Amino acid sequence: MAEKFSNTISMRDVYMKSDDEIFDDIEGLVLKDAAKLYSPTVIEHFNSPHNFGAIEDAHANTFMSGICGDTIGIFVTMAGEKISEIGFVTNGCGPTIACASALTCMAKGKNPDEARKISSQQLIEFLGGLPIEHTHCADLAVNTLRGTLAKLP
Ligand code: FES
Repeated sequence: MAEKFSNTISMRDVYMKSDDEIFDDIEGLVLKDAAKLYSPTVIEHFNSPHNFGAIEDAHANTFMSGICGDTIGIFVTMAGEKISEIGFVTNGCGPTIACASALTCMAKGKNPDEARKISSQQLIEFLGGLPIEHTHCADLAVNTLRGTLAKLP
């Protein structure tokens, strides 16, 4: 007897639903799967990234690529001794987006020395953990921030 999967959308559902409803269903299934692997904090930062985008007149920025080829760019603007604006861009995976987003939240308002001391481990703890195969996403985010801070005048 064929196994019935509860994690599927039937064709009957597809024909009776609008495009938006079908998209919501698919998104719901994806999030359900993501929740098995990632913490609520990772999912929140992936779904609604904070500080996303390049800063045109940033005081410093750096782009770095990780071992997987994904790239993060981080932009920093200072107001006195503090990081007043920080933004990121990336072509990376969900965990990369979550790492860069969370790291920019952690660094904003700090002085460069404090921000430089944020470790990959602290970032992973802030995110409520990461699967081992994605811990390098945290390394990439931290290294990119440090690279940007090293370029500050
Ligand atoms: Fe490589 Fe996220 S940076 S998978």
